[in-house]
Amino acid sequence: MSYTAARETDFTCLPELSADTFAAPLKRPAGIGEDWLEPEQKRYTTDDDAVWDDLFARQIEILPGRAATAFLAGLERLDLGRGGVPDFAALSRKLGALTGWSVVPVPMLIPDHVFFWHLANRRFPAGNFIRSRSTFDYIEEPDVFHDVFGHVPMLTDPVFADYMQEYGRAGWKAMRHNRLKALGALYWYTVEFGLVQEAQGLRAYGAGILSGPSEAVFAVEARSPNRIGLNVDRVMRTDYVIDDLQPTYFVIDSFSDLFQQTALRDFNQLYTSLPNGFTYANSAVIEVDKVLHRGTQEYLLRGGRGSGAEPV
Ligand code: PHE
Ligand code: CO
Repeated sequence: MSYTAARETDFTCLPELSADTFAAPLKRPAGIGEDWLEPEQKRYTTDDDAVWDDLFARQIEILPGRAATAFLAGLERLDLGRGGVPDFAALSRKLGALTGWSVVPVPMLIPDHVFFWHLANRRFPAGNFIRSRSTFDYIEEPDVFHDVFGHVPMLTDPVFADYMQEYGRAGWKAMRHNRLKALGALYWYTVEFGLVQEAQGLRAYGAGILSGPSEAVFAVEARSPNRIGLNVDRVMRTDYVIDDLQPTYFVIDSFSDLFQQTALRDFNQLYTSLPNGFTYANSAVIEVDKVLHRGTQEYLLRGGRGSGAEPV
């Protein structure tokens, strides 16, 4: 496959992966097709529904004043707190009427290229299963609470909804350039751990922040982490941690700022100039940074998760 603009790929059907593109060898469970979708959403037990309700109640306590206005508005419009794990079909009808997105059930983490293809078609793949009581506070694999509570409210925002679709298209382009890790860092620092500067103050819009109990407070208020204005060239060269609070958060001015810096820019040049691997440590502050808050990094320096360090 030649280097074409992201737009030129046809996403009607799952595009062919070229032979030299790396794809993680995930094993497709029995009964799952090429699209990796479950034939239908899981049936949840009353226990499962209670786990959702308790997680929901805990987050809703923490989020006012910390979550982005668009996120809180989305939560309400989609009625995600009506009780129990939401039904994807009903949720998709509401979301579809707002921005044309739907939510589709998947059994587990799915291959990147399939994930990108769904996004390019405005389908958000959400984990079918819900965590148990024993992993209530922290799970590594995204479950239905992370995926639906964390990600879906932002899809009610028209500009963010377009960003996610463009990101899906961009994924295929990054694969052709062999720069998936760099584009992954952009996803990490925006979709999962992004902050937005609102008139009233800093707010979180990243799903990784909003679906957990401690990171919303840490990301917005703690003195440890750096908060730096988003700069795509910088972020795509920056390493990230997947199993602890972030040492650095990147801040956008608005969702149209995010869209302009990404979707409205051609990444070809950037991909060609990016070195293999990351250049900057996840706690680094560099010369070009627009520093909003220079973190003390004391949480990280004291040992982070598992050390008993306070997330201050
Ligand atoms: N415009 C970018 C490109 O040329 C892609 C992009 C779009 C990246 C949206 C992230 C989000 O590849
Ligand atoms: Co996520």
